[in-house]
Amino acid sequence: MTRIVLPAEPLVDGPTALRPWRDSDVPALVSACQDPEISRWTSVPSPYGSSEARAFLMTRYDSIRTETGAPFAIVPAEDGEQLLGAITLMRFAWEHRRGEVGYWLAAEARGHGHATRAVKLICGFGFERLGLERIDLFAATENPASQLVAERAGFQREAVLRSYMRSRDGRPDMVAFGLLSPSRARPGRRAMRFASRRRS
Ligand SMILES: CC(C)(COP(=O)(O)OP(=O)(O)OC[C@H]1O[C@@H](n2cnc3c(N)ncnc32)[C@H](O)[C@@H]1OP(=O)(O)O)[C@@H](O)C(=O)NCCC(=O)NCCS
Repeated sequence: MTRIVLPAEPLVDGPTALRPWRDSDVPALVSACQDPEISRWTSVPSPYGSSEARAFLMTRYDSIRTETGAPFAIVPAEDGEQLLGAITLMRFAWEHRRGEVGYWLAAEARGHGHATRAVKLICGFGFERLGLERIDLFAATENPASQLVAERAGFQREAVLRSYMRSRDGRPDMVAFGLLSPSRARPGRRAMRFASRRRS
């Protein structure tokens, strides 16, 4: 049995909701992915047409079955239909209870806090429902909007990884961010016990 089961009801935070993808998202996906900023900072291909959108949806559906992704469409909470963006938990290392989050917003959906709320929602889902204990987020050093999303969602900036990956424009340096499960982020009880033993 797969350990990834997407919730039946959307995940909601204020005006932002996450729901499973639907075949009917193809036209909105094609429209959003015409924005060169999306292919610049993500693995979304360019040019992007309906065959790319259908392939994207197939990989989303498959990733749930193969436990390689927990993919959501970002939509407005009030109607749950209009596509605002995409967000996925992926690259799981189950033995280490670790995953990575990746996202984009359609250009017209930016500047309203949807990305930050979507990251918080999917991380809550990852910690509570998937049992993750750490989530990674990588944002290019030249992508300040995404770094701000990471920081506003509570991630800690941990390192700069030089020439980390291939992208449309070369090999960008990436800021590595990490978020620990709330239960793991508290000061370790073992460490505190050890400190008090040393003091006594
Ligand atoms: C990253 C992304 C999801 C952020 O969405 P968003 O938070 O709605 O985006 P915004 O445009 O509101 O930018 C967020 C913040 O960064 C700031 N920002 C944007 N571009 C900036 C720049 N070039 N320099 C400095 N700050 C910048 C904005 O002013 C905003 O801060 P504010 O709310 O204090 O004004 C969106 O820009 C996007 O989809 N980009 C393309 C794909 C992408 O980069 N995905 C992430 C890959 S790691």
